[in-house]
Amino acid sequence: MKRYLPLILVAYFIGCLLLILVLARQWQDTGQAPEQPIAFSHPIHAGNLGLECTYCHQTVARSPQATVPPVSLCMECHKNAAIDRPEVQKLRGFWERQEPIHWQRVYQLPWHAVFNHKRHIKAGVDCSFCHGELKAQARVRQVRSLMMGWCVSCHRSRNAPTDCWTCHK
Ligand code: HEC
Ligand code: HEC
Ligand code: HEC
Ligand code: HEC
Ligand code: HEC
Repeated sequence: MKRYLPLILVAYFIGCLLLILVLARQWQDTGQAPEQPIAFSHPIHAGNLGLECTYCHQTVARSPQATVPPVSLCMECHKNAAIDRPEVQKLRGFWERQEPIHWQRVYQLPWHAVFNHKRHIKAGVDCSFCHGELKAQARVRQVRSLMMGWCVSCHRSRNAPTDCWTCHK
């Protein structure tokens, strides 16, 4: 037994180290809420004004990507609406310069993993299950770590495919 003690200790420390690394990544990945070029508000647009998610994220139910709308869609209202607000004036600046807005991504898988919105929407998974309640997020904040274990455990419980190549191409 004594002979193996150093080995057991080393294994124990490596185990702890791995655990800390994994936890640190989970912690780092969730909760991030990058500052955006314009302070767009889901509580105002999806909450107070009651716009459907698909009014802006138009491809979410029919393609892998949800997509964020172009400035022209915002301008359908903001040629007139709330034009006295500084953040709306910023928006109109982008429009006048014909400049796209570079929104910071909040949810992003690493390059080797693929996701597909359409398939999840078709399967009846609600946006809020993965993105939280947007109506309550003044600034979009990542509420799920998007770790593989989370994806796979739901796939297992819902009889969705769990082969490696389902999510890795
Ligand atoms: C099963 C979990 C899940 C559900 C349900 C889901 N999403 Fe997503 N969403 C993700 C993941 C994962 C990413 C990151 C995808 C990537 O990096 O390729 C993402 C990214 C996004 C993005 C940014 C990238 C893009 O695709 O344009 C938007 C916008 C978005 N989701 C909106 C929505 C909306 C709106 C709904 C509901 C109609 C929804 N999502 C439902 C998991 C989900
Ligand atoms: C269907 C009409 C409509 C669309 C589309 C729309 N907005 Fe708005 N938006 C409004 C209205 C109305 C208000 C004022 C709401 C209020 O005062 O409660 C507003 C308010 C705002 C504000 C000011 C918020 C504040 O706190 O002062 C910003 C910034 C904004 N919108 C940005 C955008 C952007 C960016 C888009 C496109 C992605 C967009 N809006 C699309 C109707 C719209
Ligand atoms: C008026 C247009 C509009 C509506 C309605 C709207 N969104 Fe968005 N959404 C945006 C814009 C613009 C962004 C990018 C800026 C930001 O992150 O705040 C965005 C960002 C997001 C993101 C983060 C994307 C990323 O970078 O990973 C998610 C998730 C999302 N929206 C989900 C939803 C859901 C769910 C609903 C319905 C409850 C909804 N949105 C309704 C315009 C809209
Ligand atoms: C709420 C449970 C749930 C979560 C969480 C979830 N999925 Fe899914 N996913 C499903 C279901 C159910 C299907 C099957 C839909 C069907 O049968 O068409 C599916 C289908 C898919 C598909 C299409 C499979 C195919 O046959 O091509 C991909 C890709 C995928 N998921 C990736 C992911 C990734 C990556 C994550 C994590 C970031 C994730 N999913 C998280 C439930 C989930
Ligand atoms: C339902 C979707 C899904 C399935 C099925 C899946 N993965 Fe993943 N995998 C992911 C996602 C999402 C990530 C990125 C997040 C992370 O690192 O946990 C990932 C990350 C990884 C990584 C990188 C880990 C890291 O720390 O960067 C490896 C290696 C990997 N997967 C291997 C596999 C193998 C092998 C299988 C088959 C046994 C598999 N995956 C099945 C979704 C999936």
